[in-house]
Formats: sequence, C-alpha cells, structure tokens
Amino acid sequence: MVFKAAEYIKSKIDFTPEIGIILGSGLNGLGEKIENPIIIDYKDIPSFPVSTAPGHKGRLILGSLSGKRVVCMQGRFHYYEGWSTDEIIMPIRVMKLLGVKTLILTNAAGGINLDFNVGDIMIITDHINLTGTNPLIGKNDERFGERFTDMSYTYTPSLVSLAEKTANELGVDIKKGVYLGLTGPSYETPAEIRAFRTLGADTVGMSTVFEVIAAAHCKMNILAFSLVTNMAAGVLDKKLTEEEVLEIGALKGEQMQKIIAKTVERL
Ligand code: HPA
Repeated sequence: MVFKAAEYIKSKIDFTPEIGIILGSGLNGLGEKIENPIIIDYKDIPSFPVSTAPGHKGRLILGSLSGKRVVCMQGRFHYYEGWSTDEIIMPIRVMKLLGVKTLILTNAAGGINLDFNVGDIMIITDHINLTGTNPLIGKNDERFGERFTDMSYTYTPSLVSLAEKTANELGVDIKKGVYLGLTGPSYETPAEIRAFRTLGADTVGMSTVFEVIAAAHCKMNILAFSLVTNMAAGVLDKKLTEEEVLEIGALKGEQMQKIIAKTVERL
C-alpha cells in the first residue's frame, strides 16, 4: 500500500524531496508559496486516504521552498474524523519512501499556559500523548523502524534552536513548550485544562502526536509549531468556537509561514 503510493508519486517528480511539511487547520497558506509546484490530489494516489468532508483540501504539493525540495500535505487526517491510526500515519511513511529526512508540522491549538496569548506561536519541544492509543500498536513494520521507539529527543533540539533563532531575527515573539494531544472532537472541559496544566502542558490540540510518533519510528528529524488560536476552555470566561480558531489561523498564519520558510532556507 505505502510502497504503491510512493511509486506513484515518484513517477510524477524528477527530484527527491528532503523536507516534508504537514499544515494544520487554517494554516494552508504555506502550500501556495511552493515554487514550480506539482500538485497531486490524494484521490489520485493509490491507497491514499481521501477525505469526503466538503471543503477539505486534500492534496500533496511537491516543489521548492526557500531553495529546498519539499513535499507538503495540504489537508491532514484527524482521528476524530474516523480515520484509523494506520491511515493517519500512512502519509508519513510515504514521505519516508520519497526521501524525506526532516518533517515540519503545524497545528492550531488551545493555549493552556497562562503566560500565552491568542495568536502566539509556540515551537513544540515535547508532547504528551493522551489520545489513549498509539499508531505503532500492532505488528511492527521493520522496514520502517524498530519495535520500541525512543522518544527522548523527538523534537530535534537543533531544529528547535534554529527555529527560535530565526523567529527572533524576524522579530516574532516566539514561545516554546509542550503540546498535549487528544482525540477530540469535543473541546476540553475547564477541569481537564486545569489538570493538563499541572501535567506540564502548554498547548492542547487534536492532531500531530500520531504523525510525530510515526516520524520518530522511521527516524526523521522533527520540527513542529502550535499556533494558539484560542485560550483553552475555562482560561477566559467565554465559549470556544471553530470560527475563532480559523480566524486566528488566517490572521497569524502568515507569521508562522515566514518562520518556516526562513528556517527551511537554513536547513
Ligand atoms: N482544544 C483542542 N484543540 C484545539 C483547540 C482547543 O482549545 N484550539 C484549536 N484546536
């Protein structure tokens, strides 16, 4: 399955993408910055999951970003949509087969850390997987990695430093911290958010952890960012809405794109 998909994509390109990019909700803009793009709809890739949700972007963009060869997913797969963990991590393994060495991910997230504000960008330094599952459960596929994956340096320390330095030079106030991953799709309760704060989480969201675990399994370097689209439940005296999440994504996504483009240039 994975191999067929990779062969199909390879037949459409004449270069090796070394950087993979996965864009979060409302953060698709970076895809449009890719030069000489070759665009492949997920539905045309053999065995690739295809979203049936209306308005969902589901395509790979292959080309150049800041002079580097990249493959970018516009539209990712979430557990709350009903995708299996196998389906969610399949694109990571396809990227591995294409030659990707470094994976960059973005997500929209709720801010748990009381020093954070809506619109803040956080470089993820570590995560807490509270989804209750793990995408590596089942027979281990030795072609990709070993049975027990070390997660000690998952968010590549040198990439965290590089992204932080780049953001500082661009004059963007940047945070660093721990992302807590859940399945959703309901947002958290205020009591859960208080509990997660004591656990050491700074942002919370419904993506990223499965993809990161799969990428760690096949030994990719990883750089990930949360955009704080809202303060998490109970932090402010108001309800959470999806509109707010998308609005802040549109407003602040540009800054995140700049950091990523400049960091990629320096890889
Ligand atoms: N919780 C979970 N996921 C999210 C949030 C949140 O507050 N905001 C954006 N994605």
